[in-house]
Amino acid sequence: MNKMNKSSNTVWHHATVTRARREALHGHKSVILWFTGLSGSGKSTLAHAVEERLHQRGCSTFVLDGDNVRHGLCADLGFSDRDRVENIRRIGELGKLMTEAGVITLTAFISPFRADRKAARRLVPHGDFLEIYCQCSLEKCEQRDVKGLYRRARAGEIPHFTGISSPYEIPDAPELVVDTQEQTLQQSVDLVLALLLARGIIGNEQ
Ligand code: ADX
Repeated sequence: MNKMNKSSNTVWHHATVTRARREALHGHKSVILWFTGLSGSGKSTLAHAVEERLHQRGCSTFVLDGDNVRHGLCADLGFSDRDRVENIRRIGELGKLMTEAGVITLTAFISPFRADRKAARRLVPHGDFLEIYCQCSLEKCEQRDVKGLYRRARAGEIPHFTGISSPYEIPDAPELVVDTQEQTLQQSVDLVLALLLARGIIGNEQ
């Protein structure tokens, strides 16, 4: 038994409303779109813009965003390696539940460690986890510095800052690489939509 599992005296309830029935109701398949990349690489911006387009098409969607989730579900976690592992584990499990709920879930977390992204991928059936690497150089992210965090990290005020004092492991085989440094937001959104169409998650608009 998994030594992490402390609730062994529980019974699993099988729902009569299944994932397949929810997907049929929504008119599309559910999936996890896992955006990963440095802070400031555009993950949240892209995830919300993709969600906007999907919502306009009538899809059932939800964005899980690092900065937001860390105010609630993961408010007890910081940025040590151990806490980041737990952060991503929780998001993986939440993504799995949302997939069962028939929702297109978009996650926007740095998720710097390959092993953690792989573990999240393994939680759902093959093909239900699409990893999207938001490729943007550290120099560019630092130049943007939307939240002023890079400057503070360089000044030594923020420990374990990704890209500066904590590593980011580039994905080996993501389903999609989006060049958020050079492309417009619109171009990036189009690429994600094309991926969803190609994978049969959504259909062509009538
Ligand atoms: S993750 O590494 O666990 O995936 P997550 O995406 O939840 O990180 O949170 C990243 C956001 O937290 C960044 O966009 C930034 O706004 C903020 N942040 C605060 N401290 C750090 C840090 N030490 N390293 C990276 N991001 C940080």
